[in-house]
Amino acid sequence: MNQSIPKNYSLNLPIHHDTYLIDGKIGKWKGDFTDVISTLLASNEEDQYTILGDSPKMDEKHALLALDAADKAYSNGTGVWPTMKVYERINCMQKFVDLMVLKREEVVKLLMWEIGKNLKDSQKEFDRTVDYINDTIKEYKKIDRDGAFFHNNSGVRALIRRGPLGVVLCLGPYNYPLNETFALLIPAIIMGNTAIFKPAKHGVLLIAPLLEAFQKSFPPGVVNIVFGRGREIATPIMKTGKINVLALIGHSSSAISLQDLHPQKNRLRLVLGLEAKNPAIIMDDADLELTVNECVNGSLSYNGQRCTAIKVIYVHEKIKDKFLTKFCEEIDSLKLGLPWENTLLTPLPEPNKPKYISDLIDDATSKGAHIINKNGGKKTKNFVFPAVLYPVNKEMNVYKEEQFGPVIPIISFSDIKIPIKFMAESSYGQQVSLFGNSEEKLGPIIDSLVNLVCRVNLNSSCQRGPDVYPFTGRKDSAVATLSVHDALRSFSIRTFVASKDNPTNKGILRKLIDNKKSNFVRTDYYL
Ligand code: G3H
Repeated sequence: MNQSIPKNYSLNLPIHHDTYLIDGKIGKWKGDFTDVISTLLASNEEDQYTILGDSPKMDEKHALLALDAADKAYSNGTGVWPTMKVYERINCMQKFVDLMVLKREEVVKLLMWEIGKNLKDSQKEFDRTVDYINDTIKEYKKIDRDGAFFHNNSGVRALIRRGPLGVVLCLGPYNYPLNETFALLIPAIIMGNTAIFKPAKHGVLLIAPLLEAFQKSFPPGVVNIVFGRGREIATPIMKTGKINVLALIGHSSSAISLQDLHPQKNRLRLVLGLEAKNPAIIMDDADLELTVNECVNGSLSYNGQRCTAIKVIYVHEKIKDKFLTKFCEEIDSLKLGLPWENTLLTPLPEPNKPKYISDLIDDATSKGAHIINKNGGKKTKNFVFPAVLYPVNKEMNVYKEEQFGPVIPIISFSDIKIPIKFMAESSYGQQVSLFGNSEEKLGPIIDSLVNLVCRVNLNSSCQRGPDVYPFTGRKDSAVATLSVHDALRSFSIRTFVASKDNPTNKGILRKLIDNKKSNFVRTDYYL
């Protein structure tokens, strides 16, 4: 198999991953295993998927052991980790990131094999995650510094900081198995919470090289990493009621069923990144070349498997013909390749995805849409060539569902009220891309769009980055906000020490600070 694979990117197969991290110990799994497959080399129907190796299919007993470890490390907020000095927690995180960078090559290679992300984007995912951790450390220092002084109002002195929330269950998606998961896990733990983390269905082996870095960097029980199916791991954990934060990037159906299992819902904080159906709205005076370029990349980078991908295009009648011709030309010229060939299009990692995309296309064409690009819909075992569908209407599944793959529904309009009405009726509200040039026309549209979604991208495709900007959504698209700064807020709560402003209390506070008797009541900060 490895003959046609460049030496740098071939793997020594099979990879038997049999470890997990619970209570600071790397355990060896002796139970059942799940095969980890790669679809990369299976383009013909008769081709077999490559078995990359296997990974633990852990059970309820171990899920609850991981929970106990996290619960014990938190100890209702009295544990070593939640009460630790901020700079000590920062030092642990710094150690982790220093160890993590040593695993770049291994993780990048597995990203390509497990989820089919191209080399450039796999490297970007790793590097962006490292930057995210470093930026989180910087931001946490700032937040800590801002809490290092006393307020004095109406005779009450107060030292107000942010404190942790408790035990976090952290579940990430397959399309960014490293970045999006860590964008939850890292802020959660640095704020003093403890966590149980289970990787997504795809993108599992790439977490294994990092277990040791977690083990060496954090006290026992702070980070617990288990492998297996959501039903066997997350379900029993949620049922105990011991989870304080559900941090999930994935499908709303999973988020809802997990919340429903919690016996004391008011105790459960949610940090969720869910589905989106981000539209592009193309006005009649849009710059055609720029718009086509942004729409191709916006809808098809990583084959459209991004929550921020453009998933429906509304184009003005006056520019429609020119746009469709150029857009289809560009799409038909896209190359499909293996990840290390750095093509925009790569095989789809989910074995059932090609059929799902074909079904969406068949449903739309049976209800009046046409595939308007030459190669659209051509299917192999592991891929479907991107299909541009026009005209699409509300009855079609591709209009309603988040396709998360290579199919692009297009609707034309002559009155801007149409796309705005469709967006208002949509269950989702993450972002929009707006293409046009007249400030007179754009102004009032922007004023409506900012209240329908949480980011209006002017003449550019939708995206999450840069990560210092808020990443969130309205309606069923998200709960809470995840920028470097906002994530630290989302995983913490304001808590403070207040005292009547009298000489006795002033004396106690003075001594607490001078004699460094409290990790909370202090006015120094970490540079
Ligand atoms: O899958 C959703 C990601 O958050 C999208 O991030 O816009 O950087 O690809 P991205």
